Amino acid sequence: MHRRDVLKLGATLTSAGMLGLPWPRHGFADSRSLRERADAKGLVFGCAVKSPQLGTDMPYTDLIATQANMLVHEYELKRKNVEPSPGQYVFAGADKAMNFAADNGQAVRGHTLCWFQANPDWLEDALMVPVAQREQLLISYIDRVIDRYGSRMQSWDVVNEVIEPQQADWNGMRTDNPWWRALGERHIDIAFHAAKEKAGEAKLYLNDYSVENDVRWNEDRRNTTLRLLERLKKRDVPIEGYGIQGHLKPYRDRFEPEVFAKFLRELEGFGLQVMVTEFDVADVDGPADPAERDADIAAVTKSFLDTALDSPACAGVLCWGITDEYSWLSDLEKYKRADGTKTRGLPYDDQYRPKPMWDAIAAALDAAPARVPT
Ligand code: XIL
Repeated sequence: MHRRDVLKLGATLTSAGMLGLPWPRHGFADSRSLRERADAKGLVFGCAVKSPQLGTDMPYTDLIATQANMLVHEYELKRKNVEPSPGQYVFAGADKAMNFAADNGQAVRGHTLCWFQANPDWLEDALMVPVAQREQLLISYIDRVIDRYGSRMQSWDVVNEVIEPQQADWNGMRTDNPWWRALGERHIDIAFHAAKEKAGEAKLYLNDYSVENDVRWNEDRRNTTLRLLERLKKRDVPIEGYGIQGHLKPYRDRFEPEVFAKFLRELEGFGLQVMVTEFDVADVDGPADPAERDADIAAVTKSFLDTALDSPACAGVLCWGITDEYSWLSDLEKYKRADGTKTRGLPYDDQYRPKPMWDAIAAALDAAPARVPT
């Protein structure tokens, strides 16, 4: 939390929950949506969507339309959903969100073309072929999907989650990955080159998690990422962006703005566009009182987003959902709450009421330097 922002908002400091971070209680002078606040700065603000709920859950649909200037499919553009059996492509779910975005004047991110997870069951066996054919299994898929949505996307997560310093590879790459087993690190090069052919203006991103916190395992991930980016640049891989997922867990991994700011400066050195692509805050291990957790979450949100949006490379932020009602955090064993209540890691609660986290995002957007839209 920057003192100047607190003063600007005319807020009074109250001490928050267990994290001990200050969170100012304040009201906003105007009722602009997060979308309007982001638009005013030339920033991205948006969220992941679940297409079945679009147009069926109307309060949800309304939030998506009014609060976001960019959408990303939460799962419909993963290969498991797109190509359930070889050569059989299913685009209905993805199309629904694309059409919704077009109707509402929203940009879209493509997530994701190559990932170790969410692959169809048939893929691993299909990769037991000579190397040239393995490459084709990657290239032909990327061709097909990019051909359909191509430059309609602002950006593509071409490759998702490729580092894992805790696994065996001495470069810190994730080896428990079918693409790694089939093609080694070269699968990243192949994916980016294939995407580049038909991506038009869309920016090609590498996307990953847990690079923002002041803990040793995140530091290893930052260093591994920077070394990988050096290798990719040296090999002329057409990478144009780096996505910081931003799944924070403040009661487990301490967030420290200085550490994150240093990493952002290092990314700027590569000339990449940066975006916070999957922001949410897990409240696991937090205090029992939801109000206390909300204050902590708001404070860490403000600190994290102030730091991200201070970087001239950062185009903006997408949350991984908009309401706690549909958050993936409540489905995950490691994050779900023991008392059976919903996690509180998104801007709206499970009754679709805005929370202090909403205020924190609004305040961070309002405080961010304006940029030229990309
Ligand atoms: C998650 C979705 O939220 C779930 O609905 C799905 O079942 C599994 O994937 N990092 C990513 C996202 O890049 O694709 C993941 O999304 C969350 C972690």
